[in-house]
Amino acid sequence: CGIVGYTGDRIAEYVLIDGLKRLEYRGYDSAGIALIVDSRIQVFKKKGKIRELERELRPLNLRATTGIGHTRWATHGSPTDLNAHPHLSCDGRIALVHNGIIENYQELKRELAELGHTFRSETDSEVVVHLIEEELKREKVFKRAFLNALSRLKGSFALAVITTQEPTKIFVARKDSPLVIGLGEEENFVASDVPAFLAYTDRAIFLNDFEAAVIDRSSVEVFTFNGEPVKKEAVKIPWSLAQAEKGGYKHFMLKEINEQPRAIADTISGNLQWFESGKVEGIEPEEVERITVVACGTSYHAGLIGKFLFENLAKIPTEVDYASEFRYRDPIVKNRDLVISITQSGETADTLAAMRLAKERGAKVLTICNVIGSTATREADTVIYTYAGPEISVASTKAFTTQLTVLLLLALCFGRRRGKLGQREFDSLFKELMSIPSKAEAFLNREKEEERVKEIALKLYRAKNALYLGRHVNYPIALEGALKLKEISYIHAEGYPAGEMKHGPIALIDETVPAVFLATKSPVYEKVLSNIEEVKARKGRVVAVVNPGDSAVSKLADFKIEVPETHPLLSPVLNVIPLQLLAYYIADFLGYDVDQPRNLAKSVTVE
Ligand code: G6P
Repeated sequence: CGIVGYTGDRIAEYVLIDGLKRLEYRGYDSAGIALIVDSRIQVFKKKGKIRELERELRPLNLRATTGIGHTRWATHGSPTDLNAHPHLSCDGRIALVHNGIIENYQELKRELAELGHTFRSETDSEVVVHLIEEELKREKVFKRAFLNALSRLKGSFALAVITTQEPTKIFVARKDSPLVIGLGEEENFVASDVPAFLAYTDRAIFLNDFEAAVIDRSSVEVFTFNGEPVKKEAVKIPWSLAQAEKGGYKHFMLKEINEQPRAIADTISGNLQWFESGKVEGIEPEEVERITVVACGTSYHAGLIGKFLFENLAKIPTEVDYASEFRYRDPIVKNRDLVISITQSGETADTLAAMRLAKERGAKVLTICNVIGSTATREADTVIYTYAGPEISVASTKAFTTQLTVLLLLALCFGRRRGKLGQREFDSLFKELMSIPSKAEAFLNREKEEERVKEIALKLYRAKNALYLGRHVNYPIALEGALKLKEISYIHAEGYPAGEMKHGPIALIDETVPAVFLATKSPVYEKVLSNIEEVKARKGRVVAVVNPGDSAVSKLADFKIEVPETHPLLSPVLNVIPLQLLAYYIADFLGYDVDQPRNLAKSVTVE
């Protein structure tokens, strides 16, 4: 899942381990590195955590200066030492790490086995290193053998390869899986994600699909899979290293929850230019007949709220689809459709595939993305950035609230352009949006409120099931609250529209199943109140998110959390924060690895 490579004067094993640790957040189950030591390749790989690999390496004091490293998230073959990357050729002269899935690996494996190759792992990745070895028998120039091998591969891959034949170089290639080259002085880096080398350089070259490169300590040569040279521009990465570190918090997730006021404020100011001009590059809101949002996970929940915003404020019919569903349901897309993809990483395979399909069928594609230079931003017709800064915790928090911020800005802008929103309403909503960072800050700074969330967490952490209920714009917040809890505490949780509860989930309610309600002020407040009554009548325990001064819900609820009041359409941005904290404290009480929950990955670059 994570790739790192280094060539230069530093001790490669340190740089690689450091880089892998910085990619730990992407989720993994085994790790390994390959180094060139005295003209030979040495491989160290292990199931489990990177620190175990580090423990093994430290006493050896190898002092290599070229190497590649990998953290693996198992797709083909269980997580074992042997299945961990790097993989070696039979003669031990080539080592390779791979992200993605080689779809024709079985066919290649059969062919190579007949030619006498023996395989040590069950992975699809290992065939690639044997394939290069085989090509090298006919083609002595390594780069050409590498390219020949690439031409045989089907599926998705980011590859990094070292060879004793050219001991200071790293050969890399990308198709449908991210890869970025970090440019240093007399040293260069490669990684699947920028934080891996941000401690050393902020200059980077992003590879496109079907591009390969040879990286040496003082040169980077990029070319197509056909071997034609490609001229690439270096990009300056605007993130600081401090942003990618924990800064005193116990976990990245807690740090990122607390960064939301800043992240939302940055996202407003970072987008003010187009917002104030009323023009989104390449889009004529008057001509948009329908919006379709495609996204996965937490970003999908942001999309569900986007539907309310676009329909309410701009009167544009809006559909929201899981990217993985959209791409396979033969969707009806017309050329006056605007497809909005929402993706923190800009690398989620399903989201990218959905974007490509939408483009193919004639829609304009706008992406809301947090990572400069990522694939989504390069493929979309229009890009709007969230300015959340690097999000490290697998469970998404600040990316979500900044996505909501962008959706609000867009809906306001479209609403005004289409004449659906009067000046007064526009001004008052925008003013309210500007006050969200300080309201979020006020909530997060109120120690009393955080203590209350902790207390509730302490009461609830033994639950096996939980329900999250909300209506209107807060129905997606119920989904998001449940997702947060599931992701990091492994407690089964379901989010539901509160009004739909009586058609099923109410059967689950008893004193052991807590129900978390979003019950802040809104036109559906009374309706939510009756749903709470229904739960209480069945001895359920109720946690309610309310506004200060609330009395009706507060009287019924077993626990309440007070968030500042805002306009109902903006309330999701504030209401999600206590649910993030609740999930965080429950997982922390349970002693789980909050930032790297089991089985999950930060960006899912495979289908
Ligand atoms: C993974 C992450 C989620 C995230 C989803 C979509 O499943 O664990 O936190 O919401 O991918 O990611 P994206 O980068 O496209 O927003």
